[in-house]
Order: sequence, then C-alpha cells, then structure tokens
Amino acid sequence: MKTEELKKLLSSLTLKEKVGQLVQVTPDFFGNQGEVTGPMTQWSMDEEQLYQVGSVLGTHRATEVRKIQENYLAHSRHKIPLLFMADVIHGYETIFPIPLALASSFDSELIESVARHAAKEAAKEGIHVTFSPMADYVKDPRWGRVLESNGEDTRLSTALTKAYVRGYQGENLKNESHVAACVKHFIGYGAAEGGRDYNTVDVSDVELYQNYLPAFEGAISEGVKMVMTSFNSVHGVPVTANTSLVQNVLRGKLGFQGLLISDWAAIAELKAHRIAETSKQAAQKAFETSVDMDMMTDCYLKELAAIVEETQATEALDEAVWRVLSLKNELGLFENSYRGLDTTVDLEELTKASYEAAVRCAVLLKNEGVLPLKKEEKILLVGTKAVTRDVLGAWSWIGEMEAASSLSEGMKKIVSTLEILPITDEEPDWQAIEEAASRVDKVVIAVGETSEEAGEAASRTDLTLREIERTVIQTIYKKNTESILVTFSGRPLVLTEVEPKVKAIVSAWFLGSQTGTALASLLSGARNFSGHLPISYPRSVGQLPYSYQEMSTGRPKTAENADQKYISRYLDEENGPLYPFGHGLSYSEFVYSDLRLSNKQLTRNEQLTLSFTVSNLSNQAGYTLPQIYFQDAFTQIIRPKKELLAWQPVSLEPGETRQVQFVVEAKDFAYVHSDLTRITDKGTFHLFLGTSAEKELSTATFEYVG
Ligand code: IFM
Repeated sequence: MKTEELKKLLSSLTLKEKVGQLVQVTPDFFGNQGEVTGPMTQWSMDEEQLYQVGSVLGTHRATEVRKIQENYLAHSRHKIPLLFMADVIHGYETIFPIPLALASSFDSELIESVARHAAKEAAKEGIHVTFSPMADYVKDPRWGRVLESNGEDTRLSTALTKAYVRGYQGENLKNESHVAACVKHFIGYGAAEGGRDYNTVDVSDVELYQNYLPAFEGAISEGVKMVMTSFNSVHGVPVTANTSLVQNVLRGKLGFQGLLISDWAAIAELKAHRIAETSKQAAQKAFETSVDMDMMTDCYLKELAAIVEETQATEALDEAVWRVLSLKNELGLFENSYRGLDTTVDLEELTKASYEAAVRCAVLLKNEGVLPLKKEEKILLVGTKAVTRDVLGAWSWIGEMEAASSLSEGMKKIVSTLEILPITDEEPDWQAIEEAASRVDKVVIAVGETSEEAGEAASRTDLTLREIERTVIQTIYKKNTESILVTFSGRPLVLTEVEPKVKAIVSAWFLGSQTGTALASLLSGARNFSGHLPISYPRSVGQLPYSYQEMSTGRPKTAENADQKYISRYLDEENGPLYPFGHGLSYSEFVYSDLRLSNKQLTRNEQLTLSFTVSNLSNQAGYTLPQIYFQDAFTQIIRPKKELLAWQPVSLEPGETRQVQFVVEAKDFAYVHSDLTRITDKGTFHLFLGTSAEKELSTATFEYVG
C-alpha cells in the first residue's frame, strides 16, 4: 500500500479502532488453542473489541492462521489484517541448537543461515514476526534464560545478534520467506539479582552502556523492526514504564523508530511492581514510555481511549498505530493477508542444516586420549540422557520431540558393540552398572538437564549434576577409567567434582532435532569438534555472576601471592573457571605462529592489521578459532584485564597452513567513560592471540597516539 493510502487508512479509524491495533492476544480469544508463554489472567472482550485487535501471538499451524485471519477479516470494518507473532527461537518445526549452543560456533554466517531457515519454515505457517533474537547480556547461568543468550561477551553477542536479524529479515520483508525480527528484552533482564527470573536489576549506567546496550544497538543498525521491553526494573523503574531508558536511550540515543511491544502481561504487572495503583495508571505509564503494543493484558484495551482523550495524546496514539500499520504494510499484508501460507520448504535441506549446525556447536571440553571412539571398541552408554529424545531444549513448541534423534540412536550407527543402560529417577541396579562397565572398553555417560530445567522461569541455585548422576560417574570410575561424559544443558554446569573422574567431557547443550546423529559423528571422529565456549563453566555456584572479563582490583591474586591473606580470592575455591570462555578442543592439532602488527603506532584514522599463520598439523580437517584479546594498559575508570577484540572460525584441511588477518581501528578499543561517552584513550595497548580467554599463544603491543 502506498504511504498516502496508509495515512488515509489511519485517519479513517475511530479512537477505539486505533486502540485495538495496539492490542495483542492469544489465539484462544478466537477459539483456537495457542502457545501459552505467560500467566493466563481472566479478562474478556466483546465481539466488537475482538475484531479490532491488531495482533495475535503463539499460533501453531498455517490452517489456524488462515482460519483466524479469514474470520477476522470477515468481521472487521476496515479489513486490516492481523499481525501474527511467535517465539521462533531456534527453529520452528525443524529445531536447531539452542542459541547458547549456536553461539559456541562463534560464526555469524552460520547463525544468519540458521535464522534464514527458521524464518522460512515459520513464514510458511503464517508467522510474520519472531520474538527473537534475545540480545540479553548474561554472566549468571543460574538464570534459566541464559539458554537463549549469546553468552557472556558483549562483542560476540552483538555480532551474533546482528546475524540473527539479517537472517530473519532478509533484504526485503515483502519476500514471503522472511519474517520481521523483534530483539528483546530491553534492557538489563539478564542481570536479574541472584539469577532469579523476573527479579529486580541493579546495574550502573556505565555497565548498562558498556555491556547491555551494544547488542540492541547492533540489531537496530541492521534495521530490526521490533523491540520488546523487559519485565525487570532498572534504576528502580520497570522498563515498560521507564521513560528515561526507553524514550531517551532506546528511541533517542539508539534511534529506534520501529514498533515497541511489552512482554507478556508486563503492563498489568506494573501494579504488582507497585508503581501503578490501577490498570489505568499502568496503561498511562506504559503509553507515555512509548510502548506501542500491549501483549496480553486489557490495560490498553480498556483504558487507553480515555487516557488519550483526557491527556490529548492523539498524536502519540497515531504514532503508535502508524508503527503497527507500517509494519503490516512492510510485510505486504495489505496485498496478501495470507502471506507465506502458500510457500514451501525443503525438509531435507532443513534437516541437513540442523545437523550441520549441531556438529558445529558441541564443545569438546576435555579429551585425554579417549576420543574418538573406534568402531571395534565395546562401548557402554549409560545415564539419564542416554536414550531420551528430550534434546530439543526450551522454546521448541512445534518441534516434535518424538522425531528428534537421541544419543543412543546415533551411537548405534557408529559402534558395533553397544550396551545401553538408561538411568531413570528410580534406584538403579548398581551391580549391573559395575559389571557392564567392567566388560567394555569405554563408557559414555550421558547426563544433564531436562528441557524443563533450563529456559524461562527455570532459575536454579545448584548447577551440579543430580546426585544419582554423580553416583553413576563414581561407580563407573571404580571399574573403568576410560569414560566420556556427555552433558546436556541449557547453561554451563558445575562439573568440578566429576571432572577428575572422566577422561573426556563433551558439552552437548541442547542440539536440536539432529542431536544424536550429530553427536555420533563427533564421538566417532567422522566429524571434528569445533565449538568453543561463549560462556565460562564456573567451578562453583559461589563464583556467580562470573565473567572472564575480570576487572582490575587493588589486590589481585597472582601466582606469587596466591597464599597471602589480604588479596582478592576465595578461601575455598580458585578464582578462575573450570573451563574458560573461548575454550574448545578439536581432534586436529593447530599451531599458531608469527603474530605481526602492521604498525607499532595507531592514529585516529588509521587501521591496524594483525596477521599470523595457522597450520593444521594433523591428518583430520577441522576448524580452529583464533581469538584476539586486548588490554588497555592505563584507563580512566577500571577496565577488564582482558577483552575479546576479534575472532574468526578458520577451516583447515589436513596439513594446510593459512595466513589470517584481522583489521581493527581505534574505535574498536573504545570504552564507556564515567560521562557515558565511548572513547579510546591514548596510550599503550597489549594484544593477545590465543585459543581461549586463558590460553595465550603470542602477545604484541602498540601505542594509540590519537
Ligand atoms: O517472547 C516471550 C518473552 O521472551 C517472554 N514472555 C513471553 C513472550 C511471548 O511469548
């Protein structure tokens, strides 16, 4: 529709019809069952209101979308099509690895292509907008939603968030294979105190600007169409009513002009926060904050018309409605209200893509010569996750668990003598486990979380394995030391106690539909491990929140003073993690050499090229992940001892050597100062080339002279 026509349409709407466009409900209101992703409170609409709402969230299938849209258009006065949104987080029906696992690839191209596949499959089922990517910065894995994040590094998260947006939205939203993206949750949700979901947040402005905003800024720079506000408060005000953060920062500083939606029931929850006494006050606060769309409450529906009249806010109302109509128009819904429903996908291609992604995302944390498994070896597969198909992870509504491949199915294809002993919550036959462990060459122990234990509203205070799983590991250890631990989880687990009792550890996260097949390829060595941790595996929950970006302190712990009293350390635990950010092993042996800088001095308008050589000395092809970290030698406010600067997965054939280059410039070394400006200080900078935040291979230094 042309802009002029759209403007005419807007001006022809009554006040009530305009308010209706700002309301989003579940399909239940239309008599269809949908996905329930929040508390269902009792509220109702009359027929007139129902056929004025602007959007529906959480439908499953094309047939439902068609039915609801047909019914709606038949009854609505202006025939403005409904906008259908859903949580397409890591695939629609074909499930890809969870976002935290995808981040383990450190590969923007992979993520862009996963988002493209997910968009295509969702669009075919009538979805127009996905509530993804989740750009929340997280350094506390007690928070269940760490599963949906890109991990603990802002720079990595920003790059991956941008890739999601490009993949979902494509070049042009009129293309029916793409969907609009909604980046969430603005802002600070990942800092929930104690890692408890929906809990309050207290972050400084410097921290907010340094670590929390950049991924949102990145999404906006890619043209993301929507943003969702977060449930939490920041600076004492829930973000859904936080005019300072939304108007000044999101709309102002970051320049977001698109559609802003509340999270589920968040407007009504302003009453529970005790910052609004009535639904009317709640609606007014959210509206003044420029939240355009109210997800699943009746606050806007019942109160907004009166508020607009009383406060003469017609212009603000028109702006909000305009943003809804514009998105519908950009998606081509006025020309084709059944957008996407006639498109098809190639299931074989999707399955293959899901398998390839899973292969790239598993992380080999430890391997003392037990992997890869050999075909002729006798293997015992034991554990709570040995046979389960609960491998998709949270936010995989449409993905069929029954169609997912389990570890046992995968392993049957690669091992000729495989014994399987699943462990349930019932007391196992310990003697049978001991006997089985004694008669095999190696034992694969599969343990970890269920889908229910990680994700939204799945915060935990204990991240160790269950007692029964720990006992299985101990029992096996007594009889067979050649064991491989495969953990399934939506977060880093605490493996400190069990780590010495196994010779290899694979972090399998939740790898999606092709879990078993992909893991089997990796365990057998048919494919090589290439995942690296986007978040540290802590030694203890007591270290949380934890990040490799440890800030400088006045009394740092060093190798020399480790036993002294008055230094920054724990009495009962190391300071560092069990496995650091960036860590991930491979079957190949990679050697790095010759780190060189193009210049020893950098000026404001120059570029600095870092180059080095990497060789694959083994006879197996594989990916290695060179990582460059930096330290600003002297700073205005304290900064981390080390920060990720650049990285690039590099694929090398057996015996291949390649030159790798990273080009950086002064602004890449900038940080947020006390006055919230992001600038680069003049002075010395140290660079580290490594394969994790802790594994330094070479260092170099340059001066920034301004
Ligand atoms: O998108 C989600 C959000 O992340 C959490 N609350 C519900 C929304 C819609 O399902």
